[in-house]
Amino acid sequence: MIKAVILAAGAGTRMKSRMPKVMHELVTEPMLQYVIDAVDGMAEELLLVVGHGQGDVEVTIPASMTMEVVRQPIGEGQPYGTGFAVMQTLPYIGDEDEVLILCGDTPLVRHETLKAFQHFAQEGDYDGVVMTTILKDPTGYGRIIRDENFAFYAIREHKDCQEYELEVHEINGGMYYIKGRALKEGLKDISDDNAQGEYYLTDVMEVLRKKEFRVEAYTIDNPQELEGINSRSQLAQSEKILRTRINNHWMKEGVTFIDPDRTVVGPKVQLAPDVILWPDVVLEGTTVIGTGTEIRGSSRIVDSQIGEDCHLESVVIEEATVGNDVKMGPFAHLRPHTVLKDHVKIGNFVEVKNSTMEEGSKASHLAYVGDADVGQRVNIGCGVIFVNYDGERKYRSVVEDDAFIGSNVNVVSPVHVGKKAFVAAGSTLTVDVEEDVLVVARAREHMVAGWSEKRADKKAKED
Ligand code: UD1
Ligand code: CA
Repeated sequence: MIKAVILAAGAGTRMKSRMPKVMHELVTEPMLQYVIDAVDGMAEELLLVVGHGQGDVEVTIPASMTMEVVRQPIGEGQPYGTGFAVMQTLPYIGDEDEVLILCGDTPLVRHETLKAFQHFAQEGDYDGVVMTTILKDPTGYGRIIRDENFAFYAIREHKDCQEYELEVHEINGGMYYIKGRALKEGLKDISDDNAQGEYYLTDVMEVLRKKEFRVEAYTIDNPQELEGINSRSQLAQSEKILRTRINNHWMKEGVTFIDPDRTVVGPKVQLAPDVILWPDVVLEGTTVIGTGTEIRGSSRIVDSQIGEDCHLESVVIEEATVGNDVKMGPFAHLRPHTVLKDHVKIGNFVEVKNSTMEEGSKASHLAYVGDADVGQRVNIGCGVIFVNYDGERKYRSVVEDDAFIGSNVNVVSPVHVGKKAFVAAGSTLTVDVEEDVLVVARAREHMVAGWSEKRADKKAKED
């Protein structure tokens, strides 16, 4: 059986964070999620090593794998290191298993690269293979030491290197393909007698060589894929690399980015050709955008479906579904479970929550539409509020097709407004309205002529 081990229990000291390092986000997803998605379809079981009591590690596991969360004890007096982390997974690993070991802080590695690595290890029937690359600046990485025949000899951690070893530019990417039996044999003989006092997984490769297992180094051409994240500046560098990778992909698919460095598109987002994205647009989660839709201003769209030919400006949209030719913004907000059908218009400072608006309906200015089912071609005037909450419970209202809700109306839910009904401006509506009825629910004007004189008289009497 093929098992993937992902190491995610490190202290992440250099991040200076209260959060586990692997949960820091790159292009809207935790870095660990990228590593997990990269092994999708390659292993039947994922063994995720997380630190005990370090804050939560929350990720989505692809359907192709089962996951076992393995806890590494962390704390004073506890052994530490990548080797110690892998030791925690041994109860789950059989001699005949093949184990792909990855680090949770190396999220730029691509699935295709891992596939080729696996293929290399299996074809060559190696007991252990380590993935390497050549870096211009190898500072901080483990160096690959080779013998006079250029055969793999050992991995030397930066802090344990001799002067001349620091000159080596071939580095350890922190990814290994090791047979179960070899892994068990290798881990038996590693020690923490090194500069950092840690159990290094890297030493397993050297132990295996000495025990005459078949070991090899597999070198890849694209050094970017093995960039590890240990600090905030490496986090920012990787963010850029990943953003460029994703945005270049979508440009090839026919999407326009006005400035690709300033638009963030999450890895699971789907874009159709002729989408136009302006700077400061952030698209997250499982968002889908239809062809011809243009998004500008500072906008954020999360887990939502947006149709074709929409025009959105400075909007926040969460878990909503939007039809075709919808216009929104500037400064509009769709909250979860909102559905806008085709040709709907949502204007300045409008918030819609858990509501449906059928085709052609409009809320053009300053309104709150909460818990409502709004029919077709309904006009929701400026300043309308669906009063859906009495401090304890939420209530739903229905507005039928072609109804007109005048400006500054309070729709005190639950009410039902019939087709073509007309609610006059300024009304506070607390009862149902029949079809094609005009309702005026506000105080009549009361006029007093000669007011300033009357007021002066009244005041003089009082004094
Ligand atoms: C490690 C390698 C180094 C390699 C580099 C590649 C070792 C000893 N060194 O160094 O050769 O060039 O990765 O990026 O393996 N972790 C645990 N438990 C621990 C310690 C670490 O789960 O006790 C996890 C971390 O969360 C991280 C990964 O292992 O995801 C690597 O640990 P890190 O401390 O970042 O190792 P590096 O110093 O980068
Ligand atoms: Ca690292």
